[in-house]
Amino acid sequence: MKLTYLSLLAPFLTSTNAADISLQKDGVPILHNGTNCQQACETLASEFPGRLHYLGSDDSFTIWDQKQLETRYVCRVEPASADEVSKVLQVLVNNWCRFAVKCGGHSRFPDDSVSVGGVTVDLGLINNTVVSDDRTTARIGGGSLTRQIFAALDPYGLAHVGGRVGQVGVGGFTLGGGTSVLAAKYGWALDHVLEYEVVLPNATIVVASEDSHPDLYYALRGGGNNFGIVTSFNTSVFPQGTVYTGSRTFADEQTDRFLEEAEKIFTIQDAEDTNVGLEYRYTYSAQNGWTISSTQRYSEPVSNPPVNLFTTLTHYPSVELGKKGLELLKRTVERANLTSLTPQLITYSIPAATMEMSKVRGGNALGLDVEGHLVNDAVYALADDFIADFRKAAEDANAFHPFIYINYANKGQDVFLSYGKQNQQRLMEIQHEIDPHGVFTSSGLWTGFFKVR
Ligand SMILES: Cc1cc2nc3c(=O)[nH]c(=O)nc-3n(C[C@H](O)[C@H](O)[C@H](O)COP(=O)(O)OP(=O)(O)OC[C@H]3O[C@@H](n4cnc5c(N)ncnc54)[C@H](O)[C@@H]3O)c2cc1C
Ligand SMILES: *[C@@H]1O[C@H](CO)[C@@H](O)[C@H](O)[C@H]1NC(C)=O
Ligand SMILES: *[C@@H]1O[C@H](CO)[C@@H](O)[C@H](O)[C@H]1NC(C)=O
Ligand SMILES: *[C@@H]1O[C@H](CO)[C@@H](O)[C@H](O)[C@H]1NC(C)=O
Ligand SMILES: *[C@@H]1O[C@H](CO)[C@@H](O)[C@H](O)[C@H]1NC(C)=O
Ligand SMILES: *[C@@H]1O[C@H](CO)[C@@H](O)[C@H](O)[C@H]1NC(C)=O
Repeated sequence: MKLTYLSLLAPFLTSTNAADISLQKDGVPILHNGTNCQQACETLASEFPGRLHYLGSDDSFTIWDQKQLETRYVCRVEPASADEVSKVLQVLVNNWCRFAVKCGGHSRFPDDSVSVGGVTVDLGLINNTVVSDDRTTARIGGGSLTRQIFAALDPYGLAHVGGRVGQVGVGGFTLGGGTSVLAAKYGWALDHVLEYEVVLPNATIVVASEDSHPDLYYALRGGGNNFGIVTSFNTSVFPQGTVYTGSRTFADEQTDRFLEEAEKIFTIQDAEDTNVGLEYRYTYSAQNGWTISSTQRYSEPVSNPPVNLFTTLTHYPSVELGKKGLELLKRTVERANLTSLTPQLITYSIPAATMEMSKVRGGNALGLDVEGHLVNDAVYALADDFIADFRKAAEDANAFHPFIYINYANKGQDVFLSYGKQNQQRLMEIQHEIDPHGVFTSSGLWTGFFKVR
């Protein structure tokens, strides 16, 4: 059976303010207004001179999404090593101060990687990439950006399974999955990680691999930001020459034929040529109306909309369902008069190899065991309406699959349940085991993004 997944990306119209947050410590609610964090920031300021920035004077700080940019933290700290991350965490826990961890900052909600009223732990200085002597692996700092990693690997003629956009961080990308232009050949980024260096909730530093802390290793492969602060990813690398990129745009009348052709290319990826990478986007613009355009690899897909929202749905491939999806998008957008937002639906393929490679090294947490390829769509539009309609259409076509890709998921989507009940349960148990006080949980200090408990 083949598997397709779909994600939806849309401008989000409201912005969230840092409000009072109540936390629980030993079951006792703490009314939080940054008081604890003020003390934590003062301590961090003395331990990390020059690398501690209070909100009011943090002028150079910038981040991809407007909602996160508007998020009011108390201070931002820039540790430069695993030891320093461990020290920061100790200060935060000692003061019971909430925090968020930032790598590339391409998540989209307050508290995902900019702390609401707490401390933003910015991993940006942990950004070096070291290639092994035999040139088959690289140790990538947990705060590295895609473009920094490729710049480090290029001189060796090497590549890794990295993101499509240079500013995306290795952290969120790899912990959640990591789809790439090389997916037909190499699968998810997470299936290429041999070792994680991780700062655990109790501030100890461990290396998790198939042999050492295997449960944690399993959990880090798909488990997001629930298990530790990853300070380095040891990942496989491989020789890679120039990647061709081409782009074409077609008028709305040609979408049906286009979808049929795209499906053929996705099939070729699985069977004949794993070098093929294709994505396509269905877009509205005032100038050209609805158009469909394809990119055959390496592009900067997003023109920096001020606020962003992604949501995601998985389904088995079906040209008919694909057509229905475009139709539904058009209807949703036009009904809500949202054409001014330049809505678009982007479809990526995640080929058969991805599923196969998920079985190596004890399997990952994603819970995908399907033969065939995935296709991944992203849209700027009215997310929830569209997804609801599209899900219904997928169910009607008997093509719905429950998997939700964390890195494109919308707030409120139950990502971990979508991995399957057993995987979710296992993740919860591992989380509880390494984090008995729940520091990294929704009732602890690191509450943003998607939490298993
Ligand atoms: C323009 C754009 C292009 C994209 N392209 C792709 C693509 O080609 N393929 C794909 O699969 N996805 C893609 N994505 C989705 C992307 O993978 C996710 O948004 C991902 O979470 C971003 O990671 P980040 O490190 O940049 O973001 P951040 O916001 O810094 O991190 C995301 C979450 O992961 C946590 N985290 C980050 N680093 C660490 C760490 N070292 N240890 C522990 N937790 C950590 C953060 O705390 C946060 O909760 C894209 C997103 C955008 C906006
Ligand atoms: C913060 O909370 C504490 C404890 O509830 C309270 O005493 C203090 O006045 C609050 N400060 C602000 C600025 O709201
Ligand atoms: C990555 O891990 C492997 C297996 O443990 C090891 O042989 C290799 O040296 C590591 N690579 C780097 C760059 O540290
Ligand atoms: C790491 O980040 C620092 C600070 O932004 C930057 O000066 C440096 O060039 C980066 N290193 C790499 C290898 O990209
Ligand atoms: C749609 O939006 C445009 C521009 O914002 C506005 O002029 C028009 O009246 C709106 N139409 C409907 C049906 O709401
Ligand atoms: C920290 O947590 C890990 C994982 O649960 C555990 O193995 C280790 O013993 C703990 N270390 C300390 C010092 O408590």
